[in-house]
Amino acid sequence: MSEKFDVVVIGAGPGGYVAAIRAAQLGFKVACIEEWLDPAGEPALGGTCLNVGCIPSKALLASSEAYEQTAVKLDVHGIGVSDVTIDVPKMIARKDAIVSKMTKGIEFLFRKNRITWLKGHGRFVAANGDTLGIEVGSGDDARQIEAGKVIIATGSRARHLPGITVDNQQICDNEGALAMGEVPARLGVIGAGVIGLELGSVWRRLGAQVTILEAMPTFLAAADGAVQKEAARQFARQGLKIELGVKIGEVSAGKQGVKVSYEDAKGKAQALACDRLIVSVGRVPNTDGLGLDAIGLAVDERGFIPVDEQCRTALPNVWAIGDVVRGPMLAHKAGDEGVMVAELIAGQKPHIDYNCIPWVIYTAPEIAWVGKTEEQLKADGRAIKTGQFPFAANGRALGMEAAEGFVKVIADADTDEVLGVHVIAAAASDLISEAVMAMEFKASAEDIGRICHPHPSLSEAMREAALAATDKRALNM
Ligand code: NAI
Repeated sequence: MSEKFDVVVIGAGPGGYVAAIRAAQLGFKVACIEEWLDPAGEPALGGTCLNVGCIPSKALLASSEAYEQTAVKLDVHGIGVSDVTIDVPKMIARKDAIVSKMTKGIEFLFRKNRITWLKGHGRFVAANGDTLGIEVGSGDDARQIEAGKVIIATGSRARHLPGITVDNQQICDNEGALAMGEVPARLGVIGAGVIGLELGSVWRRLGAQVTILEAMPTFLAAADGAVQKEAARQFARQGLKIELGVKIGEVSAGKQGVKVSYEDAKGKAQALACDRLIVSVGRVPNTDGLGLDAIGLAVDERGFIPVDEQCRTALPNVWAIGDVVRGPMLAHKAGDEGVMVAELIAGQKPHIDYNCIPWVIYTAPEIAWVGKTEEQLKADGRAIKTGQFPFAANGRALGMEAAEGFVKVIADADTDEVLGVHVIAAAASDLISEAVMAMEFKASAEDIGRICHPHPSLSEAMREAALAATDKRALNM
């Protein structure tokens, strides 16, 4: 007899492991299927985010920022240092240790919550009335289980371009880009999105000459226009070369390095010679090999599983969350969906306001936003007012030598309700939480402006921008 679980989660990334924990908290008998193997070939929880995404990239961003600070930014404080070196293998080992600590932490949480971790590839084999049959693993090791409800949280993988073979040595996706053994003298990047900018920044800070080739004619198209301009200015100042509107042609790799042929924005043939190339042109959902046919579930033309606002699929006992469904491919969005689905299965009435999911890009300065951009609101014909406050007028930022960037608050022209907040600054990833909270509670800009903020702190810029949006009454500008 195959074992039966109330809830089976397929995938233990930030969507799946969180869904499994919440379902277990709610009293269900839960199993989570995960096939990930770490570089040593050992099974690991955590998915892309913990193993080859958010967590390791932030470790490398911190190391490279510390290096750059020490090498070139301490002089202004009167601190003299010489002969600053970087031991790349040691930096990578630190990152690996952080990943291992985090993934082991999820193993602990699974034990604590009595969640069964089924190691191997999970695939649907049958729908039998109210239960779903799932096979875990293959061949002699295959195991059959039954599930009352299934949450598909299988995530995504890097999209590769036709004709460009990713070997994760010379030509890398996110996995290889996080594991380079030395600083490449010349690094090429295809795609000026989140991964291209973050990992391009890591290797630039450590001394690589970085060129990013981007297909779109505009830079950071999803961000507010003011942030786009400021980010382009800051990155150019740092020496990150970004070419927009390019068309990638042939890419060849050999002993001499990698050669990328492309057409520039004017249609002129160009070539980029580099030692390593990162391909970061988006991600595709992991829905192959899931046996969806066996239960009669179809994917859309791009491979995503169609779901409603509450992550329900076309089948009443199957749900899908995170990168395999519509919406931004962000770990915190996946986790929130996991909690929502577990609570829906338990008969509760949770809700996600997708407009209040923050975006963060961990460059320096960091970029974060929530809600709509000025351009989106204008296109919607919404009457708005805006307030912007620069960190150059914030005492704490000056003391931190982090006076770049600003906070921009956009509010409804009549009601003063906050409709969007855009931050480009050090610690923007933390500053944005106040704006998310404000928007979740439908705050007005004046509400933020009337809340006491600690002095001196970066958060004062949020208050000042809100006051500026309310009726141009910022106090320090
Ligand atoms: P992305 O969607 O952020 O950016 C891809 C970029 O590549 C776009 O600007 C696109 O126009 C460009 N592009 C596409 N095809 C191209 C081509 N043929 N030639 C040149 N440029 C081309 O995707 P990315 O950076 O790969 O990241 C994948 C996902 O991972 C994103 O959805 C992102 O949300 C998530 N992520 C989030 C992070 C965060 O929240 N801080 C960090 C890293 C990744």
